[in-house]
Amino acid sequence: MSIDVGLTAKTRQRYDRIAGVYDASEAMMERFLYARWRRRLWSDVKGPQILEVGVGTGKNMPYYPAGAHVTAIDLSEGMLSRARKRANSLSLDVDLRQMDAQALAFPSASFDTVVATFVFCSVPDPIAGLRELGRVCKPEGEIRLLEHMRARNELVGRVMDIVNPIAVSIQGANINRQTVDNIQLAGLQIVRVVDLSVQGIFKLIVAKPPIQQSAAPR
Ligand SMILES: C[S@@+](CC[C@H](N)C(=O)[O-])C[C@H]1O[C@@H](n2cnc3c(N)ncnc32)[C@H](O)[C@@H]1O
Repeated sequence: MSIDVGLTAKTRQRYDRIAGVYDASEAMMERFLYARWRRRLWSDVKGPQILEVGVGTGKNMPYYPAGAHVTAIDLSEGMLSRARKRANSLSLDVDLRQMDAQALAFPSASFDTVVATFVFCSVPDPIAGLRELGRVCKPEGEIRLLEHMRARNELVGRVMDIVNPIAVSIQGANINRQTVDNIQLAGLQIVRVVDLSVQGIFKLIVAKPPIQQSAAPR
């Protein structure tokens, strides 16, 4: 597997560019929808070792479970610098690092829970990134995702396909990814998919790492 270095650099630059306005641009959605969904995702997350991938400006931080050790990574230093400020203002001790989800610098089976919210719309190779989530999650651990994706209805889906290049250039996010399929292609075991909105555009997904194959048949 090889990472598209150019596209990854472009994604980083896009988020560095919009980091200053990201929270304001999402404020309405955050207030009326996302905050509720974040609370739901985090309500029974198990630690002690938690990884948040694509932490952005740290919008999930208010929901981190008390006493857990959270490591949080992002591609964009611009987003991370805002996440650092948020962690300080909430007096949270979060291990924040610049890193690419497509090539995580953690040993396999390091985390009890791995979380990502609204990230796999922008990771250049989402299947590579999702595989990495499966690799660093402990076999008995859990992966929790909150994602938007292509609508179920084919007509709406096609409109999303047409509008997608504009969405990517403005917000850095693909609006037509087929993330549930990508999760399966990455080999993760899907435990639960919760439709959060009409047309199945927003979903909460709980998954497990791939089943470990024994080295040789017996
Ligand atoms: C739409 S924002 C979501 C931020 C945050 N998770 C939230 O819920 O508000 C997407 C984030 O994913 C990050 N990202 C995109 N591709 C990435 C990659 N390959 N590795 C790590 N982070 C990535 C971006 O820098 C950005 O901060």
